[in-house]
Order: sequence, then C-alpha cells, then structure tokens
Amino acid sequence: MVITSETVVRDIAVEYPAAIPVLERFGIDYCCGGKHTLAEACTKGDVSLAPVLDELERQRPDAIAPEAQWQKAPFKEMTDYIVRKHHDFTREQITLIGDLMKKVERRHGTEHPEVIEIGKVFAMISSELTHHFFCEENILFPYIGKMEASQQAMLPPVFGSVEQPITRMMMDHDQAGEELRELRNLTNNYTPPPAACTTWRALYRALEDLELDLHQHIHLENNILFPRALALNNKKQ
Ligand SMILES: [Fe+2]
Ligand SMILES: [Fe+2]
Repeated sequence: MVITSETVVRDIAVEYPAAIPVLERFGIDYCCGGKHTLAEACTKGDVSLAPVLDELERQRPDAIAPEAQWQKAPFKEMTDYIVRKHHDFTREQITLIGDLMKKVERRHGTEHPEVIEIGKVFAMISSELTHHFFCEENILFPYIGKMEASQQAMLPPVFGSVEQPITRMMMDHDQAGEELRELRNLTNNYTPPPAACTTWRALYRALEDLELDLHQHIHLENNILFPRALALNNKKQ
C-alpha cells in the first residue's frame, strides 16, 4: 500500500502498526476519527501534511504488522487479548490515577482550579469505561465468540442484532475520545507546571499512558474486531 494524502488513516494504522507512534506524535486521530483521509485528519488536527508523510515513509521499511494476525485470529483469541492487554491495564491505571488525583486535588486544588476540572473529567471517563468494559466482557465479546463457533445462523440475541451493541460501543468510544481530548487540553498536553511536585508529574504521566493505551485499544475494536464481527454476522444472515 502506498501512503498518500488520500489514504484513510484507519488503513494506515491497520496495515502499518509501526506508523501508530508517528500518528500519536503528530496528534492524528486514528481510532475514533480513523475514517478520515490523512489530509483531512491533518487539517482537523491542525498539522501540516508534508512532515507527516515524510515521517510515515521513514517508518515503512520496518512496518511488520504485529496486528496483521488480528485480521484472521479467532475472535475468542482476540477478545481475550484485548481484555488482558487493554481492559486490565486500564483498570489498574484508573486505580493508580484515582489515588494520585486525590492527592493532587487536596494539595493544589485551591490555587489550581484546573486540577479540580481534570478530576471531574477523569471521574466521568473512568466510570463510563468501567461500565463499557462490563458490557464488552459480559455481553458483546461472549456473543461474537459464540457466533464464530456456531456453524449456522444463530437465534437473534436478546439485544436484537449484534449491530446494536457494536454501534453502542462505538458511541462510547467516541465519547471517551472526546473526554481524552478534553483532558489533553486541561493538562496543557500533559505538561505539568514547572513547580509541580512529583505526584503531579506522575499523575500527568499516568494520564498520558492511559490515553495512548486507549487509542490503541479503540483502534483494535473499531477498525478490526467490530468490522470483522459485522461481516460475519451479515454472512450468517
Ligand atoms: Fe474494549
Ligand atoms: Fe470498547
């Protein structure tokens, strides 16, 4: 695949995972906004196209796709991987950030009201994600695993059609994407003030790690797992 300004960002991330750090560095949305062309994504992210293309070109030689396996792997294997690698990490990170957040709010919330705002957005995203993971792990992932294992068309699930929970999950992803952008703005791109204490620095670092992992996680679901599950569902109908 030749990457041009018209290549869809999602395809770049799927075909060349080595490009993901480049997209991250330039702030190009490849998960929720992955359906845009590279040129559109650059305009949206207010970055110039040429350096992005240059950088992507440099990454391509070693772009061996570890994610290519997910285009073919059984769903059960893929969803187990997502839960182990991304859901578990996010849950641990939420606990860690919650503790750091409380300390920073207590010590600095009065002189730095932005810290309180960050705490509110974090509380929102963490409770939404906890519910979201519950739905994926207990309803959607087991269903698509069974759908693949069954040789024939399955009885309609309790939720009507598999399209419904997938659409719902993708709406949650968009919402999480919005909140992550808000956190990035409120934290000045995760740059702590010069006089910030170690806890404050650790908090921003942990939030940024959470953002990166969520981008990769949402990319796997929106761009690989869900389209594959929908394609199988349509074939069975
Ligand atoms: Fe997930
Ligand atoms: Fe998800």
